[in-house]
Amino acid sequence: MSVTILVGSQWGDEGKGKIVDILSEKFDIVARYQGGANAGHTVEIGDKKYVLHLIPSGILRDKCICVVGNGVVIDPVALLDEIALLEKLGINVEGRLFISHNAHLIMPYHKLLDSIGESSESKIGTTGKGIGPCYIDKYARKGIRIVDLLNRKVLEEKIRRNLKEKNDLFTALYHREALGVEEIIKTYLEFDKKIDKYIKDVPVYLNNAISEGKSILLEGAQGALLDVDHGTYPFVTSSNPTSGGACTGTGIPPNKIDTIVGIVKAYTTRVGMGPFPTELLDSDGKLLQNAGSEFGATTGRPRRCGWFDAPLVKYSSVINGLSYVAVTKLDVLSCFKNIKVCVNYMLDGKILKSFPTDVDRLSRVQPVYETLQGWNSDITNCTSYASLPNKTKQYLDFISEAAEIKINIISVGPKRAQTFSAM
Ligand code: GDP
Ligand code: IMO
Ligand code: MG
Repeated sequence: MSVTILVGSQWGDEGKGKIVDILSEKFDIVARYQGGANAGHTVEIGDKKYVLHLIPSGILRDKCICVVGNGVVIDPVALLDEIALLEKLGINVEGRLFISHNAHLIMPYHKLLDSIGESSESKIGTTGKGIGPCYIDKYARKGIRIVDLLNRKVLEEKIRRNLKEKNDLFTALYHREALGVEEIIKTYLEFDKKIDKYIKDVPVYLNNAISEGKSILLEGAQGALLDVDHGTYPFVTSSNPTSGGACTGTGIPPNKIDTIVGIVKAYTTRVGMGPFPTELLDSDGKLLQNAGSEFGATTGRPRRCGWFDAPLVKYSSVINGLSYVAVTKLDVLSCFKNIKVCVNYMLDGKILKSFPTDVDRLSRVQPVYETLQGWNSDITNCTSYASLPNKTKQYLDFISEAAEIKINIISVGPKRAQTFSAM
C-alpha cells in the first residue's frame, strides 16, 4: 500500500507532468486533486509530446487507472476534447478514466466572468479558463456538479437559477448581452450521455483501492505559491495545490499518505502577475526563457524567469511537508558561466526569518545572492549522478542545503531517459 502526493513547489510549470509520467510506472492509480484545465502538464515520450490539462498524466501508462477528484473543476468541453485527442493518438481511456460525481462543472458564464475580471483593474493574469468564478460558485453553494448531469430535471433547474442571476449581472452591471438559457441547457443535457460512463464515487473507489493494497499517486496542478491560502494572494489560483488539498480533493484521509514529493525547477518561473523577488528582467532572464523554452503549455504566454529562490522553496517544503524533491531542468543552467542563488531576503535593512506571503512585503524584499561557478557544458546526455560534472553536483548540494530539501531525483531534459536518481 502506498499513497504518494506530488506537488509543484514553486509557481507551477516545474515539470510535474514529466515526473508523474516517470513515477506512474510503479503506481496502479493516478488521481488529480485540484485545479482544472488551467493546468498544462507536458510529457515527452520518444518523438511524441503530450500536454495534459484535466486528465492525469498517468493516462500515458496503459496499466494505470486515472481519476479526476472532487477538488477539480471540470469543463466538460475541455474534458471531451482531451479524451478525443488522446484516443486519436491511440491512447484508450475507456475503463481507465473516472471522474468524481462531486466535482464542479465549469459553465460558459464562468469563462465570461473570468474574462470580465481580467479586463478590470484587479486583473491577475489568469488562464481565462473560468477557474476562479467556478470555485466562487462552489463556495457560495451555487455550483453545478457532475452528479447533477444524472438528473435532467435538477440540472435544468440549477442552470436556469444560475443563469438568471448571472444574466442580471451581465446586462445590468457589465452592459453585455445575456447568455442564451435554452442553448446552454440543451448543450449541458447532452453531456450526460457522453460523460455518464466515467462518473464514479471517487472517495469510495480510492479508499477501497487502498484497502486492497493498490498504490495511488496524487497529481497536483499549479504550485504551492499559487495556493489560495498559502500562496502570494491575490496573485494565486483559486484552489489548494499544496499537499493538504490532495486529501480534501480526493477523499483520501491524511493518515493514509506515505510520501510527499515536491517538484522543484532548478531556477524559478512564474506566469501571470504578482511579486517575483528573483525575477531577471535582463539578458540572463531572456537566456533562461529561451534555453528553457519557457512558454506556457496552456496559454503560450512567455514565462517570467529568475534565479533559484531558496527562501521560497524552503517555505514550500515546510507547508507541503516534502519527503524529498525532484530537481528538473538542471540542463537549462548549462548556458551560464556563473549562477546565482537567492539565499535570504532583506527587508527594510533586516534579514527576514520567514517567507512573507503578503504581496506588499514580498514585492519590497531584496534578494541576497550567492554566486556559484557554472559547469558550462552539456549535461543532457548524463544518465547518472556520478556522470554529472563536479560543479553541477556542487550546485545541487548548495540548493539542497540552502532550501533544506532532500534531492532524490534529477532531470536533465524533457525525455524519460533524461531522469535519474540523485544517489
Ligand atoms: P508542469 O505544468 O509542472 O507539468 O510543467 P510544464 O509541462 O508546464 O512545463 C515544463 C516544461 O519543461 C515542459 O515543456 C517539459 O517537457 C519540460 N521539461 C521537463 N523536465 C525538463 C528537464 O529536465 N529539462 C528540460 N530542458 N525540459 C524539461
Ligand atoms: P500547471 O499545473 C503556472 C496561474 C495563472 C495566473 C494564476 C491564476 O501547468 O503548473 P487561474 O487561471 O488559475 O485563475 O490563474 O495562476 N496559473 C498557472 N501558472 N502553471 C499552472 O499550472 C497554472 N495555472 C494557473 O497564470 O497567474
Ligand atoms: Mg504547466
